Amino acid sequence: MSEPTPLSAVDLTRDERISLLSGQSVWRSQALPERGVPGVLMTDGPHGLRLQTASEDHLGLGESRPATCFPPAVTVASSWNPALAEEIAAAISREAQHFDIGLVLGPGLNIKRHPLCGRNFEYFSEDPMLAGRFAAAMVKGLQDGGTGACVKHYAVNNQESHRFVVDAVLDERTLRELYLAGFEHAVKTAKPWAVMASYNLVSGEGVTVSKRLLTDVLCDEWGFDGVVVSDWGATRSRADGVTAGMDLDMPGAQGLSDGEVARALDAGTLEQRDVTRSAQRVLALAARACTDVGTQAPLPDDVVESHHQLARRAASEGTVLLRNDGTLPLERTARLAVIGAFAEHPRYQGAGSSRVNPTRLTTVLEAAEQAGLDVTYVAAYDPEHPDDDVDVSDAVAAARDADVALVLVGLPEAYESEGFDRAHLGLPRGHDALVEAVAAANPWTVVVLSNGAPVTMPWLDEVAAVLETYLGGQAGAEALIDVVTGAREPGGRLAETFPHAREDVASDPWFPGEPRQVTYREALAVGYRHTTSGGPAPLFPFGFGLGYATLAWGDATLSAETIAAGDAVTVDLDVRNTSERDGRDVVQVYLRDETGAVTSPAKKLVAFAPVEVAAGDTVRVTLSIEPRAFAFYAVESAGWRTPSGRFVVEVARNSHDVVDEHVVMMRSDVRGQAAARVPEPLVAASDEAFARRLGHPIPEARSGTPVHPRVDDRGDRLDGCRARAAGSRRTRHHRPWRWRSERATHGGAQHR
Ligand code: BGC
Repeated sequence: MSEPTPLSAVDLTRDERISLLSGQSVWRSQALPERGVPGVLMTDGPHGLRLQTASEDHLGLGESRPATCFPPAVTVASSWNPALAEEIAAAISREAQHFDIGLVLGPGLNIKRHPLCGRNFEYFSEDPMLAGRFAAAMVKGLQDGGTGACVKHYAVNNQESHRFVVDAVLDERTLRELYLAGFEHAVKTAKPWAVMASYNLVSGEGVTVSKRLLTDVLCDEWGFDGVVVSDWGATRSRADGVTAGMDLDMPGAQGLSDGEVARALDAGTLEQRDVTRSAQRVLALAARACTDVGTQAPLPDDVVESHHQLARRAASEGTVLLRNDGTLPLERTARLAVIGAFAEHPRYQGAGSSRVNPTRLTTVLEAAEQAGLDVTYVAAYDPEHPDDDVDVSDAVAAARDADVALVLVGLPEAYESEGFDRAHLGLPRGHDALVEAVAAANPWTVVVLSNGAPVTMPWLDEVAAVLETYLGGQAGAEALIDVVTGAREPGGRLAETFPHAREDVASDPWFPGEPRQVTYREALAVGYRHTTSGGPAPLFPFGFGLGYATLAWGDATLSAETIAAGDAVTVDLDVRNTSERDGRDVVQVYLRDETGAVTSPAKKLVAFAPVEVAAGDTVRVTLSIEPRAFAFYAVESAGWRTPSGRFVVEVARNSHDVVDEHVVMMRSDVRGQAAARVPEPLVAASDEAFARRLGHPIPEARSGTPVHPRVDDRGDRLDGCRARAAGSRRTRHHRPWRWRSERATHGGAQHR
């Protein structure tokens, strides 16, 4: 599609140019009606639209227009099927076009550095390749439908604790290979219309004033040609932001900070050409985005229905079968005890800015009834009071009388949300006690988990089956019934590692760090990069998931055994369905760098392909390992280098289950040095080792309050009620658009 030519910023007055660089309101960019420039309407969020209705005061989330609530990123990524993400994004784009929304604030693709990050449900993976592929697919789906995507939160925003002020200190190689690689892929391949600059600092520099991140890397290296938008309230200095390449300050401050930009121009501390460049980018966004006044009409019924069915399919594709002794799929005639209040009050999406007001919401009880299942229901716990003791007696009695007990447990909203991190990996105590009691009463106990991130399962060996449904979106209940009855395959594979304990996570000693500094001493040892490199064995490895069908993999063939830098390698294999039901599998390819050029984790994911195979059929799968997969980021030469020597290609069912492996010899002029040096440990735990890896001393944690949102001295947000409770006077920087659940990191919930 050819794009409309925007007005030229040089034809505008200086004040007009400046005015374009901050929002007109909370969700709209500045319009210049007399110049024919419309304001662009933006809304959250990644898994559906949150278009607020009447006011834009954002103290609560109740009032947004009904839109399809698709499963969030954690669930969609578990499908390992970027085409599904693209389909969902196309559907979101269609809804956005209906409401005249020009820019969707997503997808989010931050790396899941630690499973306790409160916002992990909104992110795809611990692996940058998987996250980058999914983000690119979502950008494409949105933008092909005419709606802009704003990939977020760039960059190194991997925790919610102290998110407004924390400085993420990490070495350059880790930054490039782990935390930027997914953004790089999405920007280069899908060309998002916008990138959101995050609240935090990276190695001493606020992201919204970082010329290095916003101009040198994003634009000059990766060729980004869209608009850099600040996260809401993340702008540290208007003038320094514009100089750095932070084009659009959001939300709008009704022009109140335009004077700051004008004064900087007058003083010569800000260049006119930078203002013009940013204004030009905002004009280009306004020219590409749909910009009429949004319609008040609800979504048409056929759209609601077809998107609900897509959400249902997506939820089953993202459901991961973690354990099964053969109890699943259920016999249709089984008498079922459905235990757990989530059956009536589903936990189906995350909390915070991404929350969608769904067009429909089905409960498990309704879905079971629609499917004609014979069900006895016991609520067992109060979903609003997760830490209350649970009386298990009715649940135990119902489980005894049933053929199969389906126990619905997981993380209530008070345990995970944007705005704070989880305090521990456990379920509420009462949920664990419930599973244990039911499993003791009935050996055919199936546990259904609803949660946005890994949890521990102390009862794992006592139950017949475990389904990780994550957060299923508005049709999650129907998807669950589809999966337990076998109408659909549980298609998912974990896009993250489930540890046995938080201490097993390499970053744990430094998570979430101090209020103003978090050191990434684990470097590349995140998730499976750690568990496969001598780290503690996981509860469930990255890539893991079972199915109902049986699929046999043939031997893999590689396109070449000796290659040169810049070459890709193709891997082919047959996947045969030896069972009598249709099945699904995910072929995963990992690469081991044995060249010895640099210390690297044991392996990294370099290719994957989901495959559907009909009963009795064979499907040929072809995967490509791209040239970049063989390279590492060489800090001294500030570039990617491909080392000479031996690589091993692993064809695997998951990061710990290798089915076949092949050696590939790389010829390049970058020599490996294995024999010459003692390999460094992956984790630089001591100050000395970390400083060595950084290449400079560990910076002092800074004090002061560098960002606009009002924060206390721990870096926690003082907003709304909390600000008033703290007796603070409002300032013009105080922007009360927070949602109710944002609160102190170590809030009252999550007791163990
Ligand atoms: C979140 C963003 C979101 C924005 C607008 C911020 O606090 O970090 O992800 O898009 O608010 O709601």
